[in-house]
Amino acid sequence: MSLIVGRASETEALHACLAAGRHVLLEGPVGVGKTALARAVCGVLDRPLFRVDGDGRYTEGKLVGYFDPPAVLRAGYQPEFFVAGPLVAAMQSGGVLFINELNRMPEGVQNVLLPALDEGRAQVPSLGEVVALPGFAVVSTQNPSEFVATGALSEALLDRFELVVLDYQSEEEERRIVLQECRGAPSAELVAASVALVRATRHDPRIRRGASVRAAVAIADIAARLGGDVLRAARLALPTRIELLDASATPIDRVLDDLAKKAGVAAPA
Ligand SMILES: Nc1ncnc2c1ncn2[C@@H]1O[C@H](COP(=O)(O)OP(=O)(O)OP(=O)(O)O)[C@@H](O)[C@H]1O
Ligand SMILES: [Mg+2]
Repeated sequence: MSLIVGRASETEALHACLAAGRHVLLEGPVGVGKTALARAVCGVLDRPLFRVDGDGRYTEGKLVGYFDPPAVLRAGYQPEFFVAGPLVAAMQSGGVLFINELNRMPEGVQNVLLPALDEGRAQVPSLGEVVALPGFAVVSTQNPSEFVATGALSEALLDRFELVVLDYQSEEEERRIVLQECRGAPSAELVAASVALVRATRHDPRIRRGASVRAAVAIADIAARLGGDVLRAARLALPTRIELLDASATPIDRVLDDLAKKAGVAAPA
């Protein structure tokens, strides 16, 4: 797993909440580093780790667990036939349940979490009550700008989480991330140009949603294979990652040309 660049204060906050026995919600725009930070912090805790990815078709049954059907047919609902889902497994082992993109989970799944989060208890049909061991915690991520496509978390669920907000990092830190995440070893100039161009997308009035450092990694990686042509790489990497307010007013290539000029991105010699 790659190292986390910067984020000292957020890392400290996350550790403090977990040490205090709290559950944490990491919130921030696409690609800001929510998953990377949560994985890194959960990975160094001396607790078992269980991961689930938010998905509109995920079910309560998957989160909690299920009875093995052939065994139940043979001998009925015996506790040893229960296959623990990630929630019950984390509770029973005093582990951390990492729910990536919690806001994508259907309401039923979110409701199952309520008693587990504040009382450390879950009712499992035919098994009974599961009580969490000390150490059990839930770390979740959510992306606030996605609420149009997904849903916001209920007030009751939010009330059970501490909130750590992640914003875009400094230019210098984003350069270090790009250097670390690229497949090759792009030149310092290429890294700087890719980061500058991507950062410019976040402040252009024609753009509704700018791009993250993930786009800068892609641009630097591709440009290194296109003779250093950052603008050409950006034309491949950015159309999927930025959203124009009015695409009919200015075509995306024009917007990218302007941004490249503003970011001082020169065409390769
Ligand atoms: N501080 C950081 N240090 C190292 N790598 C980082 C950092 N922040 C982001 N990255 C890298 O940038 C990319 C995007 O980060 P990540 O997937 O964690 O973002 P996210 O906020 O979870 O995105 P999404 O909203 O799409 O789920 C990953 O490749 C990640 O490793
Ligand atoms: Mg993520």
